[in-house]
Amino acid sequence: MARQRWTSRTVFILAALGSAVGLGNLWRFPYLVGKYGGGAFLVPYLIALVLVGVPMLMLELAVGQKMQQGAIGCYQKLHPSFAGLGIFALTSSFIIVSYYAVIMAWSLIYLLTSFKMKWSGDAESYFYQEVLQISTGVEQLGGINSPIILSLLLVWFLVYFCIWRGTESVGKVVQYSVPLPVILMSILLIRAVTLPGFLQGWEIYLKPVWSALLDPAVWTAAFSQIFYTLSLGFGIMLAYGSYKKTEDDIAKDTWITALLNSGISLFAGFVVFAVLGYMAGKTGIPIEELAASGPGLAFIVFPEALSLMPLPRVVSVLFFLMLLLLGIDSAFSLAEALNAAILDRYKQLKIAQVSMAVCLTALIAGIIYTTRAGLYFLDIVDHFVTNYNLLLVGIFQAILAGWIYGAEKLRRYINQVSDLQVGKWWNISLKYIIPLVLTTLLVTQFSQDLKTPYEGYPTWALGIGWAIALLPLLLFLFLLFKKQD
Ligand code: PHE
Repeated sequence: MARQRWTSRTVFILAALGSAVGLGNLWRFPYLVGKYGGGAFLVPYLIALVLVGVPMLMLELAVGQKMQQGAIGCYQKLHPSFAGLGIFALTSSFIIVSYYAVIMAWSLIYLLTSFKMKWSGDAESYFYQEVLQISTGVEQLGGINSPIILSLLLVWFLVYFCIWRGTESVGKVVQYSVPLPVILMSILLIRAVTLPGFLQGWEIYLKPVWSALLDPAVWTAAFSQIFYTLSLGFGIMLAYGSYKKTEDDIAKDTWITALLNSGISLFAGFVVFAVLGYMAGKTGIPIEELAASGPGLAFIVFPEALSLMPLPRVVSVLFFLMLLLLGIDSAFSLAEALNAAILDRYKQLKIAQVSMAVCLTALIAGIIYTTRAGLYFLDIVDHFVTNYNLLLVGIFQAILAGWIYGAEKLRRYINQVSDLQVGKWWNISLKYIIPLVLTTLLVTQFSQDLKTPYEGYPTWALGIGWAIALLPLLLFLFLLFKKQD
């Protein structure tokens, strides 16, 4: 059977962009800017984008397109001993998608209950006590929370119908799911800038504090944000690249995707801080205290802020719809990475069957996050996967492509098919800069985690996190050094 193809170049770019643009653009990027030096943060961020983000994205798209395989096959074609790196990348995808979907399930609950606005007044206890019914600690599972698991089931239905026909259905979905959240964002922005306070918000967001550039934490934050936001190290971009034809352009598509993604992040920051500025004016709480990242922003601060606006129900519906749309194409891109590898191996299976199996398995794996201790598990697992697994895959991938397969060989291929020519700097980035930068991040994180156990969780719980990082690593190393037969 012939390989699946994107129906057009635009559709491919939208799909890659949809994967990149996700919750991180909304709830992580703006927060990092506000916290780490305002406008000054853009310096390390842009450096990270050019030195690491773009070269790595180009690497993944190029390898996928050249090898015409999912993650496992791609790495194996770069070097026969590296199939295990594909398994490594795909375990991260599987783990992330199983909790990413749960966050979307929370968003769906908020969307469906927007008309009640039950959070107004005390959004914090609404989130923790009513929606999550959170237990007192990670050791108290407290049983499954039925609204959440029902909502999760619905989310997986949605994801399934996005991917059940592979590139064909994905192609149709991304034409809406990528531009629509940006349009919703613009509506929220217009709403916020026609209310008082937004300028104060923007001032906190962007006013540069140049001394921040001397803080190493600012630099590590910039590099890890770039890596996460471009969905690198999951086998996603390999799979998406593999659905292009071998003679398609690579360089320009890479730049377009990377720049649009960062542009949308920057734009999202204007929305977030305009809303925070308005809320600060209304409540008297300083913007710095309101600024939050992650679920705290999306499920506590924002709902509260929106409830203070005129037409609170309408703006809340817009916001949670936007959240869902931002998340869905990131979620299904992770599932697509898994599908691609499975379909390479079991050619007789139908896309719909594989999609169903992937969705069902990830749904089952996600049940732990629907318990009343779910948020704790989510927090721990997220910390380890995004700080270790991604970086490790990134390092090995750069070494594999840059040193073992040969950066120059890949670069020649990219230049053969692209209008925009890629200079020798790309080789340097692949061979030296990426491994060096990512190893530094890894070591910094590791020593920090050894010094202070993450968030003071009990050792057994953090053990789960360490196992998530170490088991795939050991499997990869085992396969790497196993004698080829
Ligand atoms: N890039 C997404 C974001 O910024 C996160 C993501 C990572 C999505 C990995 C899919 C895979 O939110």
